Amino acid sequence: MMASPALRIADMSFAWPTQAAPCLDIAAFELARGERVFLYGPSGSGKSTLLALLGGVTLPQHGSIEVLGHELSRLSASARDALRADHVGFLFQQFNLLPWLPAIDNVLLPCAFSARRREQANSAGSPRAEAERLLARLDLDPSLWHQSAARLSVGQQQRVAAARALIGRPEIVIADEPTSALDAERQQAFVDLLLQESAAAGAALVFVSHDHRLAGHFDRSVALDTISRGATGMPEKSA
Ligand SMILES: Nc1ncnc2c1ncn2[C@@H]1O[C@H](COP(=O)(O)OP(=O)(O)OP(=O)(O)O)[C@@H](O)[C@H]1O
Ligand SMILES: [Mg+2]
Repeated sequence: MMASPALRIADMSFAWPTQAAPCLDIAAFELARGERVFLYGPSGSGKSTLLALLGGVTLPQHGSIEVLGHELSRLSASARDALRADHVGFLFQQFNLLPWLPAIDNVLLPCAFSARRREQANSAGSPRAEAERLLARLDLDPSLWHQSAARLSVGQQQRVAAARALIGRPEIVIADEPTSALDAERQQAFVDLLLQESAAAGAALVFVSHDHRLAGHFDRSVALDTISRGATGMPEKSA
């Protein structure tokens, strides 16, 4: 049997309840397994909205979104939650770390919500050993591993959030503009680390940014307005 792609979107449109016209209208988009794509578009064009749809957090009004061959709108809310927990690592725009929890326990959170990711993290000996390996790989000093997340700098929090997205080798890693707080040189270094670790885990990566300069090392670069009619925020022309 042919493996399904990591992600597939077909004839999908979505509007927030307050919007008269769809902010996203995508005829076709596909991400192969292991493929690493850079997705860019201006602020407000719907990038974060698209990621919420890919994660099954919200559902489109029309069309289909498949994650690893599962059509999201055919799943119950709890099945979508389980699919996301097992197979998708999220790196949020604001990181969403639990501030009072030590860095390493933030990294371990996905293993608490998914037996699959817990088992895959065991390949390093234990989930904790895998969390330590990832934090070391992302250059977070061991003296900070047991520091609460709130006490870390923005760049350090970002690396903790990246380790959390990667732990347990999810097939899909989704990163929403995680570099905006860093200077250009550190941004590129962080992107390179994320690319390397995604490749090592065999994960497909969707990396979203409005900063096109970061596109260089990805397999593919996609402008949101070339796949979505709604992405410019302009009213749609009637056919
Ligand atoms: N929860 C929401 N409820 C209603 N409208 C929303 C909601 N979230 C986003 N929008 C609207 O949807 C459009 C796309 O927003 P979105 O956050 O996806 O843009 P973005 O491309 O991620 O922007 P940025 O680069 O600033 O992060 C905007 O017009 C925004 O006002
Ligand atoms: Mg956004």
